[in-house]
Amino acid sequence: MISRYSIIGVFFLVLVSIFVNIEGRSISQFLTQNTKGTKWAVLVAGSNEWINYRHQADVCHAYQIMKAGGLKDENIIVFMYDDIANNTKNPRPGVIINNPHGHDVYKGVPKAGLCRRYVNAKNFFNVILANKSGVVGGSEKVLKSGPNDHIFIYYADHGGPGIIGNWKIKLSILIVNRSLICDSLKLIRICIIVFVFLLLSAMPNEVVYAHDLVNVLKKKHASGTYDRLVFYLEACESGSMFDGLLPEGLDIYVRLQRNLMKTVMAHTVERVLLLIPVWVSVPPLEFKGVCLGDLYSVAWMEDSDVQDRKLNSVHRQYSRVAKRTAANLTYYNYGSHVQEYGDKVVSFDPLAAYMGETSKNHIHDSVDAKSFSTSSSRNVDQRMQY
Ligand SMILES: *[C@@H]1O[C@H](CO)[C@@H](O)[C@H](O)[C@H]1NC(C)=O
Ligand SMILES: *[C@@H]1O[C@H](CO)[C@@H](O)[C@H](O)[C@H]1NC(C)=O
Ligand SMILES: *[C@@H]1O[C@H](CO)[C@@H](O)[C@H](O)[C@H]1NC(C)=O
Ligand SMILES: *[C@@H]1O[C@H](CO)[C@@H](O)[C@H](O)[C@H]1NC(C)=O
Repeated sequence: MISRYSIIGVFFLVLVSIFVNIEGRSISQFLTQNTKGTKWAVLVAGSNEWINYRHQADVCHAYQIMKAGGLKDENIIVFMYDDIANNTKNPRPGVIINNPHGHDVYKGVPKAGLCRRYVNAKNFFNVILANKSGVVGGSEKVLKSGPNDHIFIYYADHGGPGIIGNWKIKLSILIVNRSLICDSLKLIRICIIVFVFLLLSAMPNEVVYAHDLVNVLKKKHASGTYDRLVFYLEACESGSMFDGLLPEGLDIYVRLQRNLMKTVMAHTVERVLLLIPVWVSVPPLEFKGVCLGDLYSVAWMEDSDVQDRKLNSVHRQYSRVAKRTAANLTYYNYGSHVQEYGDKVVSFDPLAAYMGETSKNHIHDSVDAKSFSTSSSRNVDQRMQY
């Protein structure tokens, strides 16, 4: 009897000590991390053109979050094509919003960042690896981080299996792939379409391949130039970027949203109509249905806007964001799944370790939280025809 109780007791003690270890770590980090090391952010909008408004809006919003959190401009590297604010189609010239009730998120975003054709995979990788000589164009800022530093990478883009990057290239690849199971007549038609797409997609940005990205992250880890790294990725099929590729032990935590694009593609590609399950609040009329943000991105950013980032861990945010996107998923039968990869222990860090602390003034800066939660901002799926 006694031995049975002592076994249970030992088991319980082990459990408690594991818990205390994890929690203790996060508690001590709550107290120390904000003073130790530098916070870095790399924010990437991989697409361009008016129809992809949402990716650059997401990235601008992310910039505002980092900035309000006290990160310095020299530590925030923004990749965006920058063809939205001044776009002739923009009903609010010089302004970008990420929420129907939101304020301008474009204000202050470093214009000397990497824009136009400099938004490409090579620059992205060289920025991460702090290879200044390899970065062409822009401000030549690189991730010159040290061993105690925390890195936050956020990437918003279209995606395909194992790739993120230019939507035209990816769409072409998807169509080619799909065409293999179509009959020959359709194949010819599809080939023509692919050819046109490839012509259209002569730049501005290249595709980021899963293997390359994971290799770059491994190299970064090997160089010992960060303490922890959190990577948020929003792209269709983004799970394939890290599935079975990202090893544990790199002190990297990846959270991503995976759109159920494949299923949708299967039903629609014959008519070359691409349904992108994007979820945003109904945009103001003058935007003529253009999405202002992506479901997952808007979810984590609005969460970061209003929550106390010192008291909330990355993991707690994950739970809330997963719940919010799942609610939307059930409602429309398709939407996004939020997934995690890498070292989960990293996710016990407070959000503040990556995004800085919430500034009280900022809470209603990019989003008018009150009007957002009470108004008619129901979410819609944006169906886009390409
Ligand atoms: C947008 O227009 C403003 C005012 O004309 C100008 O200062 C700014 O450089 C332009 N930005 C881009 C990206 O063209
Ligand atoms: C830096 O980038 C250049 C140009 O892409 C490349 O040739 C070089 O090998 C890179 N250096 C390192 C250390 O990665
Ligand atoms: C092509 O389709 C197959 C089966 O649907 C999938 O396993 C594969 O990953 C796809 N490849 C690309 C490059 O899209
Ligand atoms: C999506 O999730 C948000 C947050 O939980 C919720 O306010 C909104 O009503 C949801 N939309 C739908 C259509 O379920």
